[in-house]
Amino acid sequence: MEPNTSPIQIQKLEDYNLLPFDLLLLADPSETLVKQYLKDAEVFVYLLDQKIAGVVVLYPLDTYNIEIKNIAVRPNLQGKGLGTQLLKFAQEFAKENEYDNIFIGTANSSLSQLYLYQKLGFEIQEIKHNFFLDNYPEPMEENGIPVKHMIMLKQCLK
Ligand code: COA
Repeated sequence: MEPNTSPIQIQKLEDYNLLPFDLLLLADPSETLVKQYLKDAEVFVYLLDQKIAGVVVLYPLDTYNIEIKNIAVRPNLQGKGLGTQLLKFAQEFAKENEYDNIFIGTANSSLSQLYLYQKLGFEIQEIKHNFFLDNYPEPMEENGIPVKHMIMLKQCLK
């Protein structure tokens, strides 16, 4: 990675040996799925003091649509606006690259994520029923709610 002097330290990760797997698995506990989408995605990291503080993974679905497949901030740095900056970066990246729509998916139980994404202009588009039951080996719970369905959110950029 080249040193970056811009005030917001978000840059493309060129060396996949430096992938922050701990962070990626925080957002998506399926290592299989993560490894699958990383192959065709671009990874951007938020650097603080030259260390990776956050990550966002952008995955082109086709010429018109791009999806945020993964976004995570180190737990001790959450709630300080880094996630918002990563999401705004993803929205700008999608606009600059002339995508029509940007998507993000989250679980039915991910209440703060649903709040954050809608606050930043994403709208609920589709529910993939039982996505987590069908694709993850262990049952999961979050905020006291069984993790079952994937809520897909979309933002039109044009
Ligand atoms: N609990 C409560 N509120 C939260 C929250 C949490 N875990 N995460 C974010 N928020 C709220 C903040 O209060 C803030 O609201 P405000 O702007 O009205 O004050 C808003 O969401 C944005 O917070 P921000 O600091 O920009 O987000 P962040 O840096 O914590 O990053 C995530 C957000 C989701 C990327 C981060 O919490 C994270 O890495 N979570 C674990 C991985 C994950 O769930 N990834 C997403 C999978 S879909």
